[in-house]
Amino acid sequence: MKIPQCSMDIFKKRRDELISSLKDNEMIILSSQPLYLRQHDVAFPYRQDSFFYYLTGFEESNSCLVLRKKSPSSILFVQKNDPERELWDGALFGPDRAKSTFLMDACVDVEEFQDTLLSLLENITNIYRIRSVNKVFDHELDQVFVEQKAKYPDRRTPYRFLDARDLISKRRMIKSEFEIKQIRKACQISTLAHTQVMKACKPGVTERHLHGIFIQSLMSQQAVRESYGGIFASGDHALVLHYMDNADTCQDGDLMLVDAGAEWEYYASDLTRTFPVNGKFSAEQKIIYNHVLNVQKELIQAVRPGVTHRSINTKALELIFAVLKQEGVIKNKKDIRTFYPHGFGHLLGLDVHDVYCLDEDDATFTLQAGMTLTVEPGIYIPRSAEVPEKFKGIGIRIEDNVLVTETGSEVLSCHLPKEVDEIESLMAKS
Ligand code: GLY
Ligand code: MN
Ligand code: MN
Repeated sequence: MKIPQCSMDIFKKRRDELISSLKDNEMIILSSQPLYLRQHDVAFPYRQDSFFYYLTGFEESNSCLVLRKKSPSSILFVQKNDPERELWDGALFGPDRAKSTFLMDACVDVEEFQDTLLSLLENITNIYRIRSVNKVFDHELDQVFVEQKAKYPDRRTPYRFLDARDLISKRRMIKSEFEIKQIRKACQISTLAHTQVMKACKPGVTERHLHGIFIQSLMSQQAVRESYGGIFASGDHALVLHYMDNADTCQDGDLMLVDAGAEWEYYASDLTRTFPVNGKFSAEQKIIYNHVLNVQKELIQAVRPGVTHRSINTKALELIFAVLKQEGVIKNKKDIRTFYPHGFGHLLGLDVHDVYCLDEDDATFTLQAGMTLTVEPGIYIPRSAEVPEKFKGIGIRIEDNVLVTETGSEVLSCHLPKEVDEIESLMAKS
């Protein structure tokens, strides 16, 4: 039985604000993340769906939230108590305890979901839902709408189904003081873990060993898990953007790219540092590294309210093209994606790639105070490219987590070293 460490008023306030934005004929139905099995009676580690968690704080699977204007406005469907099951899997809240703990207007046994929902649907025509989080609930819901026609022929149907992600994402994009505190803490935990990895890195250790040090550090700081599978990429593996094998041995003379973060109370951090396996950058590595670092600092300077996400993406492309041209790596702008195939960054929050509605090409997405995002330019030079030999195989990304403030930005991960001399002196001390 897991109770969030924070006040339940936080979740209730989110629900109340959302409910008060609804019209009388609108309803939101969200389902929990299902529990996935890796074998007939062995489950994968469970994590609640972020939209569901945002509005409930409730971490049990097989549950469902209904919100509407009319009272009762917030109804949580949960599993009832079952001593035999609880002997194996731990205590369940059950409807009564869930209602009082999570400050719901009503809690109902999830087995009564279909019948209860039928009775709640009166006067409802617009239903916000998220398809495909939980296929069992999707099916149950679809059945309710079929049954409704038979049971209540005079009700106005069919319903208009809308995507609840659009509605909730707008709210999730702007972080409260509480949320910023959690992300700050996730960054703080990751910062210590990254520095411990840097100190432990030397020729001959494996990527997996370093990943283990990272996870050990997170857990010893009481973080429950990583916010995504950590990328521990030595040498050419850094050119694979989402490399996750982490199976190779770190070689003398190579760089090591670590893209990894802690999750704290469901909030993510997402930090990348690139450093020399042997603790000392080569001349070529240092040249490209400092270019990425300078670009990153310029991009962070560009983060402020009123600036579009797209304009910073454009700036990143221009800055990276300029430095690659200066080094004789690139001639034509059209080739830039060979060396820099991703965007400058993304929103960060309950999910590492936070909220749903953000198309990178969407020029209407403008930064606002309270948003948290990553700034993560990189340069990746394939061996197959026609470039100076000395740069081949270099892959560098530097990623920080940034809060948009009223006047500009604050780097939440500013304590994680990124200057060449800071990194070299940290690694020399180990
Ligand atoms: N860790 C994935 C990313 O940086 O977006
Ligand atoms: Mn990352
Ligand atoms: Mn990222």
